[in-house]
Amino acid sequence: MKEIKITSGFSRLDKDEKIKLVSSFTTDSVFFSNTLHASQHRDPVTQKLYDEFSENTLGNYYFPFGVAPNFLINRRMYMVPMVIEESSVVAAASGAAKFWAERGGFHSEIIGLDKIGQVHFTWNGGFDLLNRFFPEIRTLMLANTERATSNMMKRGGGILDIELVNLTDKIPDYYQVKATFDTRDSMGANFINSCLEEFADTLRDFTAGKTELSSFSLQVIMSILSNYTPDCLVKTWVEGKITDGYQYDDHYTDLEFVKRFETGVHIAQVDRYRATTHNKGIYNGIDAVVLATGNDFRAVEACGHAYASRSGQYSSLSRVEISGNSFRFILEVPMALGTVGGLTHLHPLAKLSLDLLGNPDAGQLMMIASAAGLANNFSAVKSLVTKGIQKGHMKMHLLNILNVYKATESEKIQAVEHFKHEKVSHNAVNEFLHSVRG
Ligand code: MEV
Repeated sequence: MKEIKITSGFSRLDKDEKIKLVSSFTTDSVFFSNTLHASQHRDPVTQKLYDEFSENTLGNYYFPFGVAPNFLINRRMYMVPMVIEESSVVAAASGAAKFWAERGGFHSEIIGLDKIGQVHFTWNGGFDLLNRFFPEIRTLMLANTERATSNMMKRGGGILDIELVNLTDKIPDYYQVKATFDTRDSMGANFINSCLEEFADTLRDFTAGKTELSSFSLQVIMSILSNYTPDCLVKTWVEGKITDGYQYDDHYTDLEFVKRFETGVHIAQVDRYRATTHNKGIYNGIDAVVLATGNDFRAVEACGHAYASRSGQYSSLSRVEISGNSFRFILEVPMALGTVGGLTHLHPLAKLSLDLLGNPDAGQLMMIASAAGLANNFSAVKSLVTKGIQKGHMKMHLLNILNVYKATESEKIQAVEHFKHEKVSHNAVNEFLHSVRG
C-alpha cells in the first residue's frame, strides 16, 4: 500500500485512470478496481448522468430503494418510496402506516412555504442613515431581479419581502438584508442565491453612487439562502380514542399504552439526549423519502434540528395531545422540498418515486415525508415503551449478520426459521451456523 501524498491534476484524469490511481492506495488494488468497475451502470448514458451529479466519481454506491405501502394521508392512499440502508425502518414505517390506515390515516396541513435568504454586510454609516434610503434600495432590488423572478412570478411565487436588519448589538457595523421567498414547487436554492447576489450588487452600487452614503464603507460579506426555514412548515398527525378498542398493543390496555407512550414522548421533550435519538427516529422516515425523491436531506435535517432548538432547549419534534378520550400524536416540522428542479427529475429513481407518488407538488411531498417521519416515530416509541426495540430490530438485522458470516441461501432459510423463536445476536447466529455447518 503506497503512502498518499498531495495530488495535483486528479480531476483531469479519466475515470479508469482515477480508479487505477486510487486503487494503488488500497490493500487489494485488483479487488478495489474490479468492484468499482462492476458498480457501473450497464447503460453508459445513465452512468454518465450519475457521474455528472458529482465530481471525481469512480463508481456507484448502492442504497436500497424500497417502498412502504398503506400510507393514507388526507384520505388519499400512497405507496411511499424510501431509500435507506438501515434494516427495520421500512418495516416500521409500513407497520405504523397500516395500523393508522385502519384508523383514519394521517392528517396533514401545510402551515407555510416561505423560505429565507440573507445578504450579510458591514456598514459604518449607522442604521438610521441606511434605513432612510432602504425603501429606494428595495425598489431597485426588485427591479434588478425582475428577469430572474419573472418565471417564478408566473408560477405564483417570487420575492415576498425584503427587510434591513440591524445586528450591530451582536457584531459592530453588522447588518443583513433578509429576504423572504416563495419558490413554489422548487426547493429554490439557486433562485434564492441568484436574487441575493443581485441584491448585494444593488446595495453596493447604490451606496457607492449616492453622495450622502458614499463616504462610508459598505462591505458585503456573503449572500446565501438560509437552510433554517421555520415558516416552510408542515403539521401532520394521527388521532384515535384512548379507550375504545384501538388495540395499540397486545400486552398493555389502550389506556396503559397511551399513558406510557405519552410519557415516552414527554421525556424527549425535556431531555436532549433522548430528544436527539427520538428525532433521529423521525428522520429515519423523512430522510428516506427525501433521498428517494432527489431532495437535499442535509438541508432538511439541519433545518429540523435547528427548529427543535427554537425554545433554546433541543427538544422533541413530535408531541402528544390528550383531551378527554382523544389521543393525538403530532409532528410539526419545517422542510424545504422540491418536486421540480435539482435532481428531482434528473435522477432516474427520483423521477420514478415522484411518479409513484402521483407527481405531488412541494406541499404534498412535505406532507408525505412528514407522515413517514411520524410513522417511524410512532413505531419506534411504541416498541420502546412496550416490548423494547432490540427484538424486532435484530430480527430485521438477521440477514445482515448472516451476510457477514457469508451464509448460503439454504443456511439463511434455516436461520430465519430458527430465529423466529430465538433471540438474535452475532454470537447466537455464529453458533447456529457452526452447528448447521457441522
Ligand atoms: C433507530 O434508528 C431509531 C430509534 O433509536 C429511534 C428512537 O429511539 O426513538 C429506534
